[in-house]
Amino acid sequence: MNSNAAIGIIDSGVGGLTVARAVIDQLPNESIRYIGDTANGPYGPLPISEVRDHALALLESLADQGVKALVIACNTASAAMFRDAKERYSDRLGIPVIEVIQPAVRTAVTRTRTKRIGVIGTEGTIKSRAYQDSFVADPEIVVTAAACPRFVEFVEAGVTSGDELFAVARDYLQPLKDAKVDTVVLGCTHYPMISAAIQYVMGPDVSLVSSADATAFEVYQSLVSHNILRTDSSAPTHSFETTGDDTVRFETLAHRFLGLEVNRVDAFPTGTIPTIADINEETQ
Ligand code: DGL
Repeated sequence: MNSNAAIGIIDSGVGGLTVARAVIDQLPNESIRYIGDTANGPYGPLPISEVRDHALALLESLADQGVKALVIACNTASAAMFRDAKERYSDRLGIPVIEVIQPAVRTAVTRTRTKRIGVIGTEGTIKSRAYQDSFVADPEIVVTAAACPRFVEFVEAGVTSGDELFAVARDYLQPLKDAKVDTVVLGCTHYPMISAAIQYVMGPDVSLVSSADATAFEVYQSLVSHNILRTDSSAPTHSFETTGDDTVRFETLAHRFLGLEVNRVDAFPTGTIPTIADINEETQ
């Protein structure tokens, strides 16, 4: 494994940039290759098998590019295919694969005082019960889960406040308020970008858990334990690719949400990242 290779990060769009930001903060000497699957995303409303195919295709593309670790910076994709990805890349090829759900669960468990935890995410993530099942280890924990599908629309449109967002948020979050949760897991990597709006609606006493920092720490631990921290003294490179033809919009949002590290965005014309079905066909 080349320790000077980049860390590969995938998401359905711009949400995974919250994880990329945390990785850059905790591992400032590391290079990053990020793919946002805007041609196929958002993943939330898609059948889980489709999410699995799209997300595995992105990982395959990054593995082909020689990355040294893979980060699934999307809860919906983590719920759909983490086990497959771990088997394919980590177990068979020795490329560590890190996902976002378990780090968020661990953080929420240490944060809650009342053991009433709320989880919000896409329809795909909430329906998969990946979070609900992860909390069963402590039978005293009561989880209230709510799908908040329109939040992704707001984030992708760059909307972080305003009457429409607040009205939608009040509606989605009411069950969590009724359940008197003291901790809310932002179970979608897009949501940290509207965390102020969520905090505003939930009130100041509720603690919001984003998986970004905990996931970045898992990446840190993984690179240290595999002895693959970058040793090159030249400046690291950060490259961001979008599968859609929306490079300008992606770059604008990425600059807004990630900062100036995003100085270049490349586009894969739609369909040029092969799906797993194509890859299987080629190898048969
Ligand atoms: N960022 C993705 C997640 O964490 C969701 C956005 C989408 O629907 O694709 O689940």
